[in-house]
Formats: sequence, structure tokens, C-alpha cells
Amino acid sequence: MAYASMSEARIRPRQVLVLIIVFLIVLKLVHHNGKHTCQGPEYLQAMYTQQEAGTLPHIYAITPTYARPAQKAELTRLSHLFMLLPNLHWIIVEDSNSTTPLVRSLLQRAGLEKRSTQLNIKTPPEFKLQGKDPNWIKPRGVEQRNMALAWLRTHVDVDRHAIVFFMDDDNSYSTELFAEMTKIKPGHVGVWPVGLVGGLMVERPILNEDKTQVVGFNAAWQPKRPFPIDMAAFAISMDLFIKNPQAVFSYEVQRGYQESEILRHLTTRQQLQPLANSCRDVLVWHTRTEKTKLTSEDALQRQGKRSDSGMEV
Ligand code: UGA
Ligand code: MN
Repeated sequence: MAYASMSEARIRPRQVLVLIIVFLIVLKLVHHNGKHTCQGPEYLQAMYTQQEAGTLPHIYAITPTYARPAQKAELTRLSHLFMLLPNLHWIIVEDSNSTTPLVRSLLQRAGLEKRSTQLNIKTPPEFKLQGKDPNWIKPRGVEQRNMALAWLRTHVDVDRHAIVFFMDDDNSYSTELFAEMTKIKPGHVGVWPVGLVGGLMVERPILNEDKTQVVGFNAAWQPKRPFPIDMAAFAISMDLFIKNPQAVFSYEVQRGYQESEILRHLTTRQQLQPLANSCRDVLVWHTRTEKTKLTSEDALQRQGKRSDSGMEV
């Protein structure tokens, strides 16, 4: 009897094997969860899987930015968007005589030091009419975007497929837009709708019947432009910039013609690659932040005081 009960208590080799397998499965699950920091929707998880496999193209987002009361708020929104996107490299070009600690520490706090490049170049003051609204006589961001393009042309690995996107600091962007951009094929320019721009709810490309080609645009503002679309409406395969070194932004064109100016060097209407659910989804909005009212702050400062002494707002 005593012998029999002892043999019941003994663990059999098969049970040991089962336990080891269960342990390994649990270990794999825990490890897997740790690796996928993204618990979000399928398109983001797919981006993380592609990133691990090394097949996700880099997206170089080029953002001109300038000092004003809402600058940190705008850039914080963008930096937190980038924290979700593993393949983004942010080229941020300050419209100033030197790079600023505000931008540097913002990049650090978002953990983006290794995925960003901080540059600066000041717009000639004669291009801005002081005190007037709009206080600009020339298109904005020209110098800054050209500097970023020059940096790209000398720093990127030309053999690796990558995407270039001109990203204003005040628009509203969905992470889904960046998932769409990764679908841009080498040698192509991807296009999609932009919300709240050009006096319309949405400006969008019009497609042919089988939804493969752009045959027109619905723009109401300056519809005769070669590419009547906003800067946020397209992204470009990097190889086009390498093949076309003459493609730069120019002060010599009217406001509203910057998009056409850069695109005319790189593509044709027929070659555009429609994205965002055959241009039916709006994934970016041309929002504009209202100018900050600081009447009480100005009154304080006239008394030699300020609400933000020793703080960065
Ligand atoms: C529209 C387009 O969306 C811009 O891409 C285009 O550059 C601009 O018109 C133009 O052609 O002038 P809009 O909202 O009118 O945009 O312009 P902003 O958002 O005020 O400026 C565009 C970018 O330039 C922003 O990232 C902004 O931070 C930057 N900027 C603006 C400067 O770097 N310096 C400035 O003095 C003003
Ligand atoms: Mn804007």
C-alpha cells in the first residue's frame, strides 16, 4: 500500500514535459507583450511588426517652426504623435538665428533625440510685414524646408526606400495617415484629402472609375494651379529628391503655389498614388490655432512682473 501511494505522488516525465511547454508558452506571451509596446489598433500593430522585420520605410517629417506663445503646445502635440510611430524621423527647422533649448528639451522629453534632427535658419525679416495680419508677403517655411531637403540629400541612405512629408506644426494629424504613407511606392507621390482647407470642409483628389488614378481635384481656391492641393495632402518617395536635385521650394512663386512648385519637378497628375481609402478618408486637418491673447500678461509685464517667471510655457 505504502509503495503504491508513493508511486502516485511521483511526477512522471510526461508531466514534466507538459509543464515545461506551458512555461515556455507563458514566457513567450510575456516576452511578446513586452516587445509590442503598441496595444493600439491593427494598423499600428502592423507597423510595429513591419518595423521589427526591418521592412517599414522611414518617414522623414519636415517641420518649419517659429517662436510664439503657442509653439510649445503645438510641438508637444506633434511629439506625442511621433512617440506612437516607430518609423518617423523628425527634421525640425527653427525659423531663428540658433536652435533653441525649448525645442531641444521637448525632443528629449519625448524620447526623440535619436529620431530627430534639429536645424535652424532665419527667414529674412524683410519678408515679414511687422504688425500686419497676415504679416507675410512671401510663402512661409521656404528657407526651412529647403534646408531640411539639403540635409536629407546628404544624410540619407539612398538605397533604402523612405518617404518625405512636409508637416506644418499647427495642423492636426491622425496616426492612420502615417500608416497610409508607408504604402507609397518608390518613385511615387502619395495623395489624400485634407480637411478644413481652401474654404471647403474637405479638399480632395477626384479619382477615375476604378479608383487607381487622379483625374482632377475639387479645389475651389485657385483651382487652376498645376497641383491645387495643400502641403498636408501629399508625401514623396525619397528617391525622387535624389533623382531631381533641382526640386526645391522658391520665393519666386505666388502664395499657394509652393505645392505645385515642388511637385512639378517630381511627378505628374497621372503618376500620383491615391491613398486613404481611395481618397475617401480624412486623416489630416488644416487647423489653425487662434493667436494667443495676452492683454493681462502685457499689463503685468508693464509693471515689471510676469506670470511665467522661471517657467517655460
Ligand atoms: C499654408 C500651408 O499649409 C503651409 O504649408 C504653407 O507653408 C503656407 O500656407 C504658405 O504657403 O505660406 P498656413 O497655415 O497659412 O499654411 O501657414 P502657417 O501654419 O502659419 O506656416 C506654415 C509653417 O511655416 C508652419 O510650420 C510654421 O510654424 C512655419 N512658419 C510660419 C515659420 O517657420 N516662420 C514663420 O514666421 C511663420
Ligand atoms: Mn498652419
